[in-house]
Amino acid sequence: MADLSELKEKAAQIKEELRQKAESLDSSKSAYEVRKEFLDSKKGRIGLLMQDMRSVPSEQKAEYGKTVNELKVWAAQRFEEIDAKMKERELESRYKSEKIDVSMPAVKIAHGNLHPVTQVREELIDVFAGMGFEVYEGTEIENDYYNFTALNTPKDHPARDMQDTFYLSPEFLLRTQTSSGQIHVMEKKKPPIKILSPGKVFRSDDDATYSPMFSQMEGLVVDKKITLSDLKGMLDVFVKKIYGEETVTRLRPSYFPFTEPSVEVDCSCFACGGKGCPLCKGTGWIEVLGAGVVNRKVLENCGIDSDEYSGLAFGIGLERIAMLKYGINNIKLLLESDIQVLNQIGDQE
Ligand code: PHE
Repeated sequence: MADLSELKEKAAQIKEELRQKAESLDSSKSAYEVRKEFLDSKKGRIGLLMQDMRSVPSEQKAEYGKTVNELKVWAAQRFEEIDAKMKERELESRYKSEKIDVSMPAVKIAHGNLHPVTQVREELIDVFAGMGFEVYEGTEIENDYYNFTALNTPKDHPARDMQDTFYLSPEFLLRTQTSSGQIHVMEKKKPPIKILSPGKVFRSDDDATYSPMFSQMEGLVVDKKITLSDLKGMLDVFVKKIYGEETVTRLRPSYFPFTEPSVEVDCSCFACGGKGCPLCKGTGWIEVLGAGVVNRKVLENCGIDSDEYSGLAFGIGLERIAMLKYGINNIKLLLESDIQVLNQIGDQE
């Protein structure tokens, strides 16, 4: 049997309890749970009081209902206040944790950069343009004549074996060397000639230092009284510009059918200054290109008087220069264009 005085006691008790619980609340989620505990219409503490109404004497029913209702309104208001407080607190802590520190250094935006081989190519063009060279770009598909025969390498010449060729037909092939450009230029232009011919070349080689496709930069100078010392002088300038002022060159005898004499050009190791290190395999020297004095037969094949004119030629492997410059030991790393590898190379710039 419920009655009014008992209800008033309970109401006071509920209010006290609610005040106490409110003190310890720390999130809107826990506030929601406590709200349910008190105000749920079926199972809530206040809701249950309403159910007791049945056993209240009828003359007290109106007053009883009013009291429970007041308690309900009071509790609902408290919870609204609590909820607002919790939300404010939560927002504050969110602001704190998400605060933007305007003094933090900005995130670096990554810029793209030219491929290392393109960089080397442009650098070389710059160096040789400074010496008066013009750029001539030949074609990647050549015929046998320009790639071999005119370069004093007729069919059955043993030097053809030096370059494993991709033939497209008995006559056409993928050029194995940019030297084919020498012939095109000398056929079209009368001396003095000073050209640089960069481009892709193709050979059926495949290992750590060779790939079936790589890039070369051909140089050709034809004029009166051109000698091997002009070649050495130009290449000295080239290695100093690319690898540093202290770098020097040395020429070693070699053989190419289209140059006579022919040389391999080494530069002093820029990593150890010539003392010997892993890069130069302990020799102090690094091979950088093949070159020579243009064979008279080649000049004559192009209708140039070899008594009046002489020439020099050189062929530089661009990937090789880039590998040395960036300390890369496998040509594939340059050609696969893996963005992580390229980024590392870019960082060294
Ligand atoms: N064409 C030669 C090669 O690919 C390099 C070279 C060019 C040598 C010019 C001498 C003169 O190996």
